[in-house]
Amino acid sequence: MELKPATARARANIALVKYWGKADAGSNLPASGSISLTLDGLQTITRVAFDPDLDRDELFLDGVEAADVPRARAGRFMGLVRKMSALDLFARIESHNSFPTAAGLASSASGFAALACAATRAAGLNLPEPVLARLAQRGSGSAPRSLLGGFVELHLNGPDDEPNCRIEQLAPAEKWQVRLVIAVCESMPKKVGSSEGMERSRTTSPFYASWLRTHADDLQAARRAIAKEDFSRLGEIVESSCFKMHSVALSSKPALLYWNPASVAVMHRVWTLREEGLSAYLTIDAGPNVKVLCPDKQAAKIGSALECIEGVKRVIVEHPGPGVEYLP
Ligand code: PMV
Repeated sequence: MELKPATARARANIALVKYWGKADAGSNLPASGSISLTLDGLQTITRVAFDPDLDRDELFLDGVEAADVPRARAGRFMGLVRKMSALDLFARIESHNSFPTAAGLASSASGFAALACAATRAAGLNLPEPVLARLAQRGSGSAPRSLLGGFVELHLNGPDDEPNCRIEQLAPAEKWQVRLVIAVCESMPKKVGSSEGMERSRTTSPFYASWLRTHADDLQAARRAIAKEDFSRLGEIVESSCFKMHSVALSSKPALLYWNPASVAVMHRVWTLREEGLSAYLTIDAGPNVKVLCPDKQAAKIGSALECIEGVKRVIVEHPGPGVEYLP
């Protein structure tokens, strides 16, 4: 078999109904489903080349050799690809992000979606989407959602009702003229990564069980709001899911506070913008950056309002984007 390098491009996705907690650390399976929006401009491009001369997997992030921890994580993932393909070679992985890594801009989602596609293609496999989704999920629980464009749901039950992940596009990127205005409040990597944070919450937060119990209702309500194009209803669910997740994080021991003063200032401004009649709804992941969902016509006004807040480093206006692509 001739082994050719392969390159894939995946976009970040931002969770609208979030997951926070794993059902099973070994398989990395999330404890609940989630719904997200794939973005257009926040991209990871990854090239994988298997090479008989390598004695371990190599990882380069934006041209720089990666530290041991991310390299080992990529190596474990490549072990899964080797198992699927019965290929006994190591690979050189070159990954480029168009945005800061590990700062709450969903770099692990686009990273593992692109790696799953490029690595399996480079190993000579041509996997169907459900298999790629399950592989991407082993790398990061949010990564399967980046395989598809637009509004995407990650379900936990496969057709055989076994605990598993399955992805479904709820609406394509073009369906709705929405924007995500991102207030970048910090571009450095976070101190407690999402997997570690989730595990701490699962084992110590008194609110963890009720977070999981109410999750199915949030998913159903968001699914309905997307189907009916009911923007304000979706916005309410998005904000509520975000604050429920952060309540679980904050009530963990030791507490997990992912926000900084600029994040809080942005939250207040979003609420006053709403009082002034704009349809702005915020969400925050495991990092200080605040993402604001709004109709496209309001994005410029909201962006200008957030840009002048002290501590906001820059504002990025994103629109819905497509799923993963293979590049020549
Ligand atoms: O699976 P990870 O490590 O990318 O964690 C994702 C965690 C959140 O972004 C906070 C929630 C989500 O559903 O994306």
